Amino acid sequence: MQLTRRQFTKALGTTMGCAAIPTKAWGYTPKALNLTASKSTNPIFIKEKPGALTNLWTFNQKSPGPMLRFNVGARVKVNLHNKLPQPTSVHWHGIRLKNSMDGVTGLTQSGVENGESYLYDFELPDAGTYWYHSHNKAWEQVARGLYGPLIVDASNDPKVDHDIVLLIDDWQLDNKGQIRENSFGSLHDWAHAGRLGNWITVNGKSNPLYSLKVNSRIRLRLINPANARIFNLNFTEVTPKIISLDGYPVTPFESATLTLGPAQRVDLIIDLPENLPMFRLEIVTNTNPLTVARFALDPNLGRGDRALNPEIILPKGPNPPEAGPTALRVPIHMQGGAMGNLKSAKLNGQMISLRELAQKHRKVWAFNGRVGGYDYILAKANLGRLVILDVQNDTRWSHAMHLHGHHFWVKSKSNPVEDSSSKRDTYLMKPNENAELIFVADNPGLWLFHCHMLEHHAGGMGAVLEVV
Ligand code: C2O
Ligand code: CU
Repeated sequence: MQLTRRQFTKALGTTMGCAAIPTKAWGYTPKALNLTASKSTNPIFIKEKPGALTNLWTFNQKSPGPMLRFNVGARVKVNLHNKLPQPTSVHWHGIRLKNSMDGVTGLTQSGVENGESYLYDFELPDAGTYWYHSHNKAWEQVARGLYGPLIVDASNDPKVDHDIVLLIDDWQLDNKGQIRENSFGSLHDWAHAGRLGNWITVNGKSNPLYSLKVNSRIRLRLINPANARIFNLNFTEVTPKIISLDGYPVTPFESATLTLGPAQRVDLIIDLPENLPMFRLEIVTNTNPLTVARFALDPNLGRGDRALNPEIILPKGPNPPEAGPTALRVPIHMQGGAMGNLKSAKLNGQMISLRELAQKHRKVWAFNGRVGGYDYILAKANLGRLVILDVQNDTRWSHAMHLHGHHFWVKSKSNPVEDSSSKRDTYLMKPNENAELIFVADNPGLWLFHCHMLEHHAGGMGAVLEVV
């Protein structure tokens, strides 16, 4: 689905109040925080239709949900209360936590029913930009708004004048601004690129304006909570320095453009030039770029002290170890989807044609000739073992492959990473790409490996790695 023309033309030249981002909204309290999943009505479409309220499913009546922000090493307690008409659960995306807290309905817990509560209690081992989202029927629940930011601070974080979190989402709305419900579960979406929206928001607003101090150093934390859209982003007037991917530090490099696959995050630093009044973040499209957020100087805010700040140096992790004879190599041959070469695949031990899989079972993707599911154990690794997921994307589609509970190094011949020490939790694979996702299996439990194009996951692109 294309972005609407109306949004293109309305994106520019409109006014909107300054949207301040609470930076310490929840503080560091040792008490359990409350996260209530419920229906709510939110003004995400208000720019197109003044006064419009969209029926969403949200955490604490907001989408994005409340900013959860803690210091690295903190113990977190979150009490989830479910007031939705469906069971739900919360996954803490990218956090290397204990398996029982991973929040995957049907794998690490059962769904929290309407009227029930569930206490999440875990620690935060790594600083960085993360997010949380529903992990039951995520293809519907995340699309309805059940997600929020999770930021972990460290004392050696670069000092900045502004630290702004931006969750960029696309919604599939009808012309009244309501979620198109009858397109949930569209088999076409599941077999193609996934559910793509026609309305873009940043932090739940259309084209918000952020006010900046003169001479400031800004950290932007971009998060893609969209079901399936790959955002190709561009900054006008400034060339940011990218400092981390999926929360994990990289050797800083400059780039005005960046690609953000579903569930991925990018942190970047912008040192505002003295005489620059404003810059914009835009989505690159085949036609005109679409502005999605604006940043403007506000002299009333005073001056930042960017000039006093040194170059950014972040602690670097090690390179991936050599794969010795004890490394566990796990071949993962991804097939399926529209225009693919999958003729049939195994489901519940039976070989079934793709046509029947699609029509009767709503399954269209497979790993190694088998439709994915939570009963599909791809491999069992002993604790401490080096694991190499040897992933072959033999489909016509891109896939945002996410591993729970671990961060991995990436080796790809066709798409070499700049900094071989950097790790990710979600890797965007191009059609026909072959990549090695390398990690030390240091966290026991049942860990999901799946495509974060949520329709692809629902359609069979996900299985389990067991660490024992
Ligand atoms: Cu962001 Cu399986 O999740
Ligand atoms: Cu996919």
